[in-house]
Amino acid sequence: KFEGLANTPPMGWNSWNTFETHIDEKLVKETADIMVASGMKDAGYTYIVLDDGWMTRERDKNGNLVPDPIKFPSGMKALVDYVHSKGLKFGLYNCAGTKTCAGYPGTRGYEYQDARFYASLNIDFLKYDWCNTEGINAKEAYTTMSNALKTAGKPIVFSLCEWGDNQPWNWGKPIGNLWRISGDISPCFDCEDNHGTWSSWGFMKIIDMRKDIRKFSGPDHWNDFDMMEIGNGMTFAEDKSHFAMWAMMASPLIAGNDFRKMSKETLSILINKELIAVNQDALGIQGFKYADENGLETWVKPLSDGNWAITFLNRSDVAKKVNFDWSKNTIKDIDFGHELNPSKTVYKLKDLWKNKDVGTTKKAFIADLASHDVITLKLTK
Ligand code: DGJ
Repeated sequence: KFEGLANTPPMGWNSWNTFETHIDEKLVKETADIMVASGMKDAGYTYIVLDDGWMTRERDKNGNLVPDPIKFPSGMKALVDYVHSKGLKFGLYNCAGTKTCAGYPGTRGYEYQDARFYASLNIDFLKYDWCNTEGINAKEAYTTMSNALKTAGKPIVFSLCEWGDNQPWNWGKPIGNLWRISGDISPCFDCEDNHGTWSSWGFMKIIDMRKDIRKFSGPDHWNDFDMMEIGNGMTFAEDKSHFAMWAMMASPLIAGNDFRKMSKETLSILINKELIAVNQDALGIQGFKYADENGLETWVKPLSDGNWAITFLNRSDVAKKVNFDWSKNTIKDIDFGHELNPSKTVYKLKDLWKNKDVGTTKKAFIADLASHDVITLKLTK
């Protein structure tokens, strides 16, 4: 892979969660414009990624992929140039199988040819899916595409989308910059959406599934908890919880909503600078669950300079009271060798959602927490 392209979790937007294959150049341009004008670019969002549906149904007579001329009448290169002219980066999607999940031409057998095509378009990011791969070895398929991109020469972030069945966290580090760890996300807190042969998952279900593989994630090799569903129908509290957990897990922050219809509340969550700083912290450590008392979950994440982030999340259907006595809690991160011991060191506390100092660890932290809501504190030495 191209090393060092994702030393902090990639941030951007992907078309799939809202638009599926209903994408076109107008949508991309408007999304790029809003990314700049809304302050999202300043907050760190960079990548505009077109997911499945950007191609015609067949390759051309030379075997080349063809961007759909009806959806993209000005051509894909012009669109990439437009996004670049805004100071943003551009990504495309394909699939390791014979066809993409939506039935467009897959890359199997065309890896080097497609890599040259992406390099000629000057794209910056490739998401590589896993449909129609019967009989293919995952590690080999992703290695081949990674090598093809490298040979084509244009530095491109390589985003593995294998869903976790073949445990990409065990072999993905030299191959890709990030890898999906689960099936698709759904815009709900804790649900399972059954689609017959497959399910999609509420964001807390994805967290549950893969909270134990944190030691495999880090700078330039991230566990990807999927594109976000913030602004796609959940409550304000749930959207806040979703963002807090993606920050705590050091997941890529890829928005999946329609920017043209984005509310002020949605934007305020997506550009919360303090939460983004937790996500983008240079140590790059995925947080972990420290406690769970009848649905009041406590999550912690070591940060650089010996600081910590702590998130109280109310998973239950009733309001809860947080009462966290620092003097009674020494928190050990066994995987990465960090320890939070407020009896030895006093930390200042900042509520990152209220953007307010809330005392120190000398006194217990007490607060009300509504159902499905979240409080995130930063502890600074
Ligand atoms: C499955 C992936 O997990 C989704 O994120 C999306 O890329 C679709 N395929 C596209 O068909």
